[in-house]
Amino acid sequence: MLHLAGCWFRFMTVIKYSSPGKVILSGEHSVVYGKPALASSINLKLHFSIQDDKKRPENLPKGLDLVERIVVEYLSKNGFEIALRGFNYKIDSDIPISEGFGSSAAFSVATTAAFLEFYSGRKFEKVVINQLAYEAEKMFHENPSGIDNSVSCFGGLVYFRKETEFLKTIHSLDFYLPEKWKNSLFMVFSGSRRETTAELVASVKQLYLKDPENYLKIFNQIEDCTKEVLVSCKTQDFDLFKKGVNRNQELLEKLGVIGKIGIEKVRELQNFGSVKMTGAGGVLEGSGYLLVVCDPEKKDSLISYLNQYKIKFYPLIPDSRGLMKI
Ligand code: PMV
Repeated sequence: MLHLAGCWFRFMTVIKYSSPGKVILSGEHSVVYGKPALASSINLKLHFSIQDDKKRPENLPKGLDLVERIVVEYLSKNGFEIALRGFNYKIDSDIPISEGFGSSAAFSVATTAAFLEFYSGRKFEKVVINQLAYEAEKMFHENPSGIDNSVSCFGGLVYFRKETEFLKTIHSLDFYLPEKWKNSLFMVFSGSRRETTAELVASVKQLYLKDPENYLKIFNQIEDCTKEVLVSCKTQDFDLFKKGVNRNQELLEKLGVIGKIGIEKVRELQNFGSVKMTGAGGVLEGSGYLLVVCDPEKKDSLISYLNQYKIKFYPLIPDSRGLMKI
C-alpha cells in the first residue's frame, strides 16, 4: 500500500511531543545479561517540536540526523513515499545529561515520535515508536538493554526483561511507586561521571568474561533484589523496599560500577536511609545521581544536610504517562 505523505494543511502545523526521564529502581547492568529490571518514569521531561520550513537546519545534531534516517527508512519500507523535507525544530529538556536519568532515551523517543508524524502525517503506536527509538539508542550506546527508551515511551512503573534481541518483556505495571512514599524518595547528586554508559557496560563485560561464574552469581542476586523491590511496590512494604535497595547497592559495588567518590557519598547518605546508585554508575569520578530512600523522620535533616553542603538533589516524582503528544 502506498501512503502519500504530502498534505497541504500539515505544512502549517507544529508537531510536539514530550517524553520523561527515568530512574532504575533495581536491575541496572544485570539487565544487559537478560535479568529483569524495574524502573519508573519521572517528572523531568524533554520536549521536542518540529515544523515544516523551506530549508533544512544547518549543522543538524548527529543524533537528530540519525533518528530522522531511522524513521525515513522505516516509513519507506512500509509503503510511504518519502522525500527528505526542510524543517526547523526545538529541543527543551529539564533532564540532566549523562547522570543516569535517561536523557538520551527521552530524546530518542520524543524525536522518533515527532519524525514519524512529520513524515507520515499520522500518529504511530507506542510499540513502533519504542522499537525505532531503541534502534537509535543502539547507535548511541552500542549495547543498551532497551530499558531506558521503554520506560520513557510507556511511562509509569515498567518491569523489563530482554531475553534476546528479538524478544523482550516490557511490562507496564498497573501500580506505581506508592503515593505515601512520595516524601521519602530523592535523587541526590554524587558528582558527574567521566565514563559513558557504553564504557561502563563494556567494563562489566570484560570482568564478566574473565570470571563468568562469579558475575552470573551477582546478576542472579540482583534479580532477587529486583523481585523484592517489585513486590514491595505492589504491597507498599516500605521496609522491604529499603532492604532491596540496600542489597542492590552492595551488589552494584561488587560489580565495580561505582567508584570511591560515589561510595563515599552513598555512605554519608546512608545516615538518612537506604541508598543506591541508579543507572550506569561511574568509577573514575562521580557516579551521577543516587536514589535515596529516606526514613520519614530523617527527611528534614537530610534536606538541611543537602542544602548545607550545596549538594544538588531532586525529589523523586514519578510520571505515569510516558511519551505524550502535546
Ligand atoms: O545510562 P543510564 O544511566 O541511563 O543507565 C543505563 C542502564 C544500564 O543497565 C547500565 C545499561 C542498559 O542499557 O540497560
